[in-house]
Amino acid sequence: MTESSVVVVDHPLLQETLCVIRSKDTKPPEFRRAVTQASMLIAMAATADLPTRPVSVETPLAVAKGREVAVDDFVLIPILRAGLGMVEGIMQLLPQARVGHLGLERNETTLEASEYYLKFPENMANSQVFVIDPMLATGGSAKFALAQVKARGARHIRLLGVIAAPEGIAAIHAEHPDVPIYVAAVDERLNEKGYIVPGLGDAGDRLFGTP
Ligand code: PRP
Ligand code: URA
Repeated sequence: MTESSVVVVDHPLLQETLCVIRSKDTKPPEFRRAVTQASMLIAMAATADLPTRPVSVETPLAVAKGREVAVDDFVLIPILRAGLGMVEGIMQLLPQARVGHLGLERNETTLEASEYYLKFPENMANSQVFVIDPMLATGGSAKFALAQVKARGARHIRLLGVIAAPEGIAAIHAEHPDVPIYVAAVDERLNEKGYIVPGLGDAGDRLFGTP
């Protein structure tokens, strides 16, 4: 079976922003701004190969030939809570996107994800769907989310995150080899509590000022 492709986006602005996101000294307001900026740059890479079709546009002087995106519908599926932090940056590129929400919480002991909320847009079969979550750790949450969107007919799916662990990538390779992954970094490993090392800590807590 072929493996899902992993794109580590190496844009200099993204890599600098990633340092802000990782720093233990970055407080929630700056953390949220940095995640928004990173998400936009990751989404640029994740949309770089979208199909286009030719169009003509009238300038005040003449007709110019151009291209428009040949995708009629985009859907974002943030995995709550931390995925919410990526919505604004991606919406700056794709303001027309529909947004579904999936609430998942990892059990701190078993690390298994369980669902507490789900509301998806209808008719996703021809949509370009982006499942978004800054952290791909064990991959349990992303696997669950991908299964849910596929069960509702989505066929064109990409997984966007900020930091992945090798374990999470392997989990997606194993169950969803058709789903390309876009991240800013692949880190060394998971620790015994399932946190990515060096990572950034708890993304949800750092975004929203909890616990
Ligand atoms: C975190 C993170 C991911 C998930 C990744 O969520 O935001 O969704 O863990 O871990 P996994 O790859 O091992 O599943 P968490 O359950 O802590 O919820 P939160 O976003 O509400 O903090
Ligand atoms: N979730 C997080 O927020 N951080 C990690 O390192 C792993 C899972």
